[in-house]
Amino acid sequence: MVGRRLGLVVAVVAVVGSSLVGGVSCFGTAPEVVVNTWPFVDATREAWSVLRTEDALTAVEKGVSVCEVEQCDHTVGYGGSPDEWGQTTLDAMIMNGDTMEAGSAVNLHATKQAISAARLVMETTNHTILAGRDADEFARAMGLAQGSLVTNFSKALWSQWERGACQPNYRRNVHPNPRDSCGPYAPNAGAGDRKGGVGAARSPVGTFGRNNHDTIAMIALNSRGSMAAGTSTNGATHKVPGRLADSGVPGSGAYVDSEVGGCGATGDGDVMMRFVPCYQVVESMRRGMSPKSAVEEALGRIRRRHPTFQGALLALDKNGNHAGATNCMDFHYSLASADHPDVRVIEVQASVPCPSST
Ligand SMILES: *[C@@H]1O[C@H](CO)[C@@H](O)[C@H](O)[C@H]1NC(C)=O
Ligand SMILES: *[C@@H]1O[C@H](CO)[C@@H](O)[C@H](O)[C@H]1NC(C)=O
Repeated sequence: MVGRRLGLVVAVVAVVGSSLVGGVSCFGTAPEVVVNTWPFVDATREAWSVLRTEDALTAVEKGVSVCEVEQCDHTVGYGGSPDEWGQTTLDAMIMNGDTMEAGSAVNLHATKQAISAARLVMETTNHTILAGRDADEFARAMGLAQGSLVTNFSKALWSQWERGACQPNYRRNVHPNPRDSCGPYAPNAGAGDRKGGVGAARSPVGTFGRNNHDTIAMIALNSRGSMAAGTSTNGATHKVPGRLADSGVPGSGAYVDSEVGGCGATGDGDVMMRFVPCYQVVESMRRGMSPKSAVEEALGRIRRRHPTFQGALLALDKNGNHAGATNCMDFHYSLASADHPDVRVIEVQASVPCPSST
């Protein structure tokens, strides 16, 4: 399957290093490593193969691109996660851990190669994020193919949702009642004041997790110690049109600094992005925390306010150590390294049982 182009949203951390040694040597080499969220192993294999001959950034771009083509679990790439209007939109980000440059292309309506669009934003403009139809126009002008992101699969998902009274549904404080009625909606009286609103915000139960692996986030480290991270997603199924995933937000969906390490996130991005968890993870590792302690600590901050939120974090440090943490969600990540050149899928156990939600 190596060499197949897939559509995945992956955050990959690549550690650059000699493939001949298991650890960091005295000669400035680092162990090569690729990790990404979920068992999107074709993406991992592609990134691993590219990492041997090219830079960490290209490994991440090409690895994540595999999921965009394969439509990994229909949560990455075209033809998945229709919004309220039946549209599929893509969000992607890439970050260069050597230069701390980042590029995001978000709310794309017609560009399948979302991570490549993100890299073009990073490398051919002075900006960090381009959004919406203007971002598609940018991608088109820079040479990326345009076309519909809707497929029979996404159309069927959307029709089923509409026939089921538009459930699950991300609206609140509106009428008609979004728990049993489709829109159009209008705000309830007093919805603008914060009572009964913000603290209760949460995603429809069961939206993320086992059958809805919502994002590929990938981190890569090469043998020269260069690191890169990237993400790609089609976001939350049945989202309100215009909604951006945390995957497109630097520091939230992914973050990487070659001097320290990198991080990728997956899960309920609407909650997670308020905590900028990947920035938190990298800064914790900078102050000496292990990847495992760093992801657990960052997740714990979110858990204290949102005990039942569904989300996971993945970290890779500059020495090739990696770890994941998860809350209320089964989580696996994929690893390629000198010890596991054919990719190993690692199951992450939650450190705290999920409280039963009522
Ligand atoms: C864009 O970046 C280039 C290279 O760093 C710089 O020379 C140029 O002045 C920047 N443009 C603007 C408008 O800031
Ligand atoms: C999508 O559905 C249409 C109409 O039902 C059908 O004609 C078409 O062949 C389908 N396309 C694919 C790729 O299955």
